[in-house]
Amino acid sequence: MIKVSNLDFSYQNEKVVENINFSIKEGKSLAIIGPSGCGKSTLIYLLAGLLKPDEGVIKINGNIINNIRKKTGVILQNYGLFPWKTVFDNVALGLKVRDYDKNKIDDMVKNALEKMGISELHNKFPAELSGGQNQRVAIARSLVLNPDLLLMDEPFSALDALTREEMQNLILKIHKENNLSYLIVTHNIDEAVFLGQEIAVMKEGKFIHMIDNPYFGDIKLREKEEFFELCKELRVMMSEDDLL
Ligand SMILES: Nc1ncnc2c1ncn2[C@@H]1O[C@H](COP(=O)(O)OP(=O)(O)O)[C@@H](O)[C@H]1O
Ligand SMILES: [Mg+2]
Repeated sequence: MIKVSNLDFSYQNEKVVENINFSIKEGKSLAIIGPSGCGKSTLIYLLAGLLKPDEGVIKINGNIINNIRKKTGVILQNYGLFPWKTVFDNVALGLKVRDYDKNKIDDMVKNALEKMGISELHNKFPAELSGGQNQRVAIARSLVLNPDLLLMDEPFSALDALTREEMQNLILKIHKENNLSYLIVTHNIDEAVFLGQEIAVMKEGKFIHMIDNPYFGDIKLREKEEFFELCKELRVMMSEDDLL
């Protein structure tokens, strides 16, 4: 699905992404965890084709990415909704830009809103909604374009703990139902363990650890001993300084 080799990126002369390598197979997921400022958002922008690497190659389905790609869905940190547009129009945006027929847009948007459980909100504006509801709108807007890869930049960090878990469950469900490959960056250890089939630990622009998560996909994982064990392991990895 996606293969990243020797990726480097600097803003001016500050290197922010340094020699990053990974791949995600079709229908799999990767969670990247790291502290604020370690380069997570920059990496997402590179993978989304919004920034160009200084060195290295990003390939999706064998094609080199140097621009935005139709089938890549992106959910950024602040939802990215237009406050002056209704829920319906926000979700319809990408379809309108792509010149879909009006009836088709109506059908596709209705279907996406239904899937996210927010049909009754179609006429509301973002300011009238809770954080969790806005996040559902943002996800609906991505999913309506039928992506084969979803990139998420700390999508749930502004939500309260229970809403966050509800949204994580939703992502897992969508992933299972659609065989959707995704990458999520987060600074939340629980989130990485719940949503990452593989988990990369990022520090100062580099991946310092890459681990397989054999427990991925279990909706009840948070209640289990293994979950806490893996969280603990990650916490230790993230506090190691001598690896740099
Ligand atoms: N547009 C920019 N110009 C210059 N430096 C930037 C820019 N955006 C981010 N940075 C710097 O790059 C580093 C990584 O930022 P970012 O990718 O946003 O990290 P994260 O998402 O992990 O918090 C930080 O030191 C940040 O200050
Ligand atoms: Mg960020």
